[in-house]
Amino acid sequence: MQMDQLVALCKRRGFLFQSSEIYGGLQGFWDYGPLGVELKRNVREAWWRDMVTSQDELEVPPGAPSTYEMTGLDCTIIMHPQVWKCSGHYDLFHDYMVDCRESKRRYRYDQIQGRWAESDGKRVFVATNVSGDEGLEETQRKALKFFNLRAKNADRLQWGGPLVCLTTVENLAEVLGPDAKEPGTLTEPREFNLMFKTIVGALGGEEDTAFLRPETAQGIFVNFKNVLDSTRVRVPFGIAQIGKSFRNEITPRNFTFRSREFEQMEIEFFCRPETSPDWYKYWRDRRFQWYIDLGLAGDRLRLRDHDPDELSHYSCGTADIEYAFPFLADGEFGELEGVAHRGDFDLRSHMEGKLVRQGDQLVVEENEHGQPRHRGSGKDLSYYDDQTKERFVPHVIEPSAGADRATLAFLCEAYNEDEVPDEKGKLTKRVFMKFHPRLAPIKAAVFPLVKKDGMPEVAKEIYRTLKPHLTAFYDEKGAVGRRYRRQDEVGTPFCITVDGQTMQDGTVTIRDRDTLEQWRVSKEDCLSELQQRLKA
Ligand code: GAP
Repeated sequence: MQMDQLVALCKRRGFLFQSSEIYGGLQGFWDYGPLGVELKRNVREAWWRDMVTSQDELEVPPGAPSTYEMTGLDCTIIMHPQVWKCSGHYDLFHDYMVDCRESKRRYRYDQIQGRWAESDGKRVFVATNVSGDEGLEETQRKALKFFNLRAKNADRLQWGGPLVCLTTVENLAEVLGPDAKEPGTLTEPREFNLMFKTIVGALGGEEDTAFLRPETAQGIFVNFKNVLDSTRVRVPFGIAQIGKSFRNEITPRNFTFRSREFEQMEIEFFCRPETSPDWYKYWRDRRFQWYIDLGLAGDRLRLRDHDPDELSHYSCGTADIEYAFPFLADGEFGELEGVAHRGDFDLRSHMEGKLVRQGDQLVVEENEHGQPRHRGSGKDLSYYDDQTKERFVPHVIEPSAGADRATLAFLCEAYNEDEVPDEKGKLTKRVFMKFHPRLAPIKAAVFPLVKKDGMPEVAKEIYRTLKPHLTAFYDEKGAVGRRYRRQDEVGTPFCITVDGQTMQDGTVTIRDRDTLEQWRVSKEDCLSELQQRLKA
């Protein structure tokens, strides 16, 4: 599948639209259309149900070290600015960017690639912000233009190796920027904090600056004590949250994959320090299996353990769940979710002040007066185990998923094409979205074969029986073959058709989206038949 086919389908059938499209759009912001909103809601609901509400705290789940409890939170997007100072986001949550003085464009330093090219003794690093084969083609085109060569003289160009990252180039004066005509237009890399700033209150001074949260996790940490004091949860337990996060990404790209406003589904799981490696393994495997169960399978999905030098400053272990999105080059994967062992970094930071690593210790970072650089809340966020009579700061395992990235992966995976006979028996191309039934935006469509002979009345009656229980759609317009195709294209698993035989014996046909198999059931049994098949 080509990415542009999916993007076109998403627009045509109302899954995703560019935000503010009638004003030319706003880069990095996306709106979910009528079907997209159902799909994403199903992703969120599947996550919440599977991770939170169906967690049985009385039984040890397969692979888990013990029983555990799960509970939820819904915190604000704007929080006290000190939260971000202690979490490290204020100082550390940045990317490096370079600006082009010629094109006035801005790029993420680590996302620009290029190749060294030489002709007639002149050498230049030809840069592009496109990766993979397209990047190679782009650099070839740019180099020919720069050296004033025709395609047939391409052999007069010497290439100094494959595409490499701009970060490997020492002298940016030798770089021909992605949108520049002459080398040497890129500025030296500068830090750029990814948090969106806003002003709280009417006075609007610097001291009123606040930030839109770049992750939902911190709301959970700062409410740790509230949850302990207001419920009867005991360690080990997890707190889950789904909500919007905001990052002022320098180069939002690849449809919704890297957006500036997106939704996260995060769990902070609190456990005893000595059991944390086992819980880390449990969550890593459990989260990977969740994607498989919902239809992401085969070699497009992988679990990748981070190398020690890739780990965040607080992490003792991290694994990414990754998907081979079709917009990436062959062999490349994009992150769907990170599962991180965060130790006691977050709870201690919010107690004591921002921590830094010193050797194998986490210590409070100090300013020039020997005081904490960013002061913590001073509140006690430790846990007292009344059975063992011990007090300790729990360790945290964090499975952190993106609702939009998961939705995009499910969309990519669902896209299928085959050939099916039309009404005259001629084979024609069919596009069908093979969503897992739990995720499908519409579960069943109901059609009268024709708009007469009492069929619409019976079909509407069936539709109304289904509607309180599942998302159903009624359609009586156009040829039935075309109605089937429209439902296939939005991934409706079942279509029910009322025909002449229904009027005689009370049975209807049910058609399966994937196998195209059709069978008859009594119209009174439609709901139970669908409920059984949707559960399977
Ligand atoms: N609390 C940890 C945390 O936020 P992260 O790896 O930065 O970790 C977690 O983000 C997940 O959030 C990612 O795996 C991804 O699914 C999603 N995510 C992060 N940045 C995103 C962006 N700019 N657009 C869409 N999703 C994003």
